[in-house]
Amino acid sequence: MVVSNKKVFGLHGKKLMDSLKRHFDCSVYLMPDGERFKTMKSAEGILSSCAANGLDRHSAIVAFGGGVVGDVAGFAAAVYMRGIKVVQVPTTLLAQVDSSVGGKTGVDLKEGKNLVGAFHHPVLVVADTQMLQTLDEREFDNGMAEVIKHGVVLDREYFDYIIDNTGKIKARENSVLEHLVLGSVRIKASVVVRDEKETKGRRALLNYGHTAGHAIEAAGGYRLLKHGEAIAAGMAIAANAAKSLGICGDTAVSSQINALKSFNLIKPLKNLEKGLIIKRIFSDKKAKDGKIRFVLTKDIGCAILIESIDITVLKRELDRFLNVPV
Ligand SMILES: NC(=O)c1ccc[n+]([C@@H]2O[C@H](COP(=O)([O-])OP(=O)(O)OC[C@H]3O[C@@H](n4cnc5c(N)ncnc54)[C@H](O)[C@@H]3O)[C@@H](O)[C@H]2O)c1
Ligand SMILES: [Zn+2]
Repeated sequence: MVVSNKKVFGLHGKKLMDSLKRHFDCSVYLMPDGERFKTMKSAEGILSSCAANGLDRHSAIVAFGGGVVGDVAGFAAAVYMRGIKVVQVPTTLLAQVDSSVGGKTGVDLKEGKNLVGAFHHPVLVVADTQMLQTLDEREFDNGMAEVIKHGVVLDREYFDYIIDNTGKIKARENSVLEHLVLGSVRIKASVVVRDEKETKGRRALLNYGHTAGHAIEAAGGYRLLKHGEAIAAGMAIAANAAKSLGICGDTAVSSQINALKSFNLIKPLKNLEKGLIIKRIFSDKKAKDGKIRFVLTKDIGCAILIESIDITVLKRELDRFLNVPV
């Protein structure tokens, strides 16, 4: 059963179905579009449709869409008959470079994002970069935040490729997009393989920019900023914090920030309230005993996880960013 939404299915459904129907019996379930539908209710809709269409333990769900569809459909696959196969066919840049790989699935509750879920790896991920041609610019740039993050955290060569090919990336040249998606998937997979359930610290490196970023995203009510824009702010704050702690030099900071700026990811945040952001940082599900684990970069391609960051440094950099975004 293919799970998608009207927008994605309308744009690219025929291509997928023409190919699937040659080999499989398939049905289609369309869920509503948008993060606000990443809910138990949507998961239940998918599950009922699985049952109505007679899916059994040998069936598979094909998640065809961005991260929202991927997360909900993946979650439904994780729990339908205690788990059936899921194939991820991600159609946004964010989903191709990040959410379709690594096995995290889930839904939001009104109490918070991603509070319910399961680890459920796809048996296959099919990323067709031509689907990215129809993404609007802000959605495309949103995915670039994670692409840049991968380079900053783990792979200098990959980061340099982004800088050297910024124009071609913006023009969405297919060969360049293929290189980016493949590179990001390799980087993410290499981390996930060594720390699947985020217990050893390695996978936590992928949370670079996300501690402050998630708090900023929440403080904006999930409407003001896209995820990528919020974590871009988080990366800029983390980079400046690393500099003020003497962990990294000026160039490492400016090259990250310039890369983010070139994809319009640094947005003014003047109207956000610092107190609220700090409170959110402490209530992050990854904060332990009032200590904030934090990812910092020593240099491009070399991130480290520290068990506790000096909160005054974090507050100062947040303050600075809120007043004048770099
Ligand atoms: N599971 C993970 O590891 C993981 C990692 C990162 C993010 N996520 C989750 O991913 C979600 C965000 O995903 P997203 O940024 O892809 O958002 P999204 O799924 O909401 O997609 C963004 C918009 O683009 C549209 N769209 C999708 N493909 C398109 C295409 N090819 N052409 C035109 N429009 C298209 C969608 O219909 C939607 O309106 C969040 O819920 C986040 O929590 C999960
Ligand atoms: Zn992210």
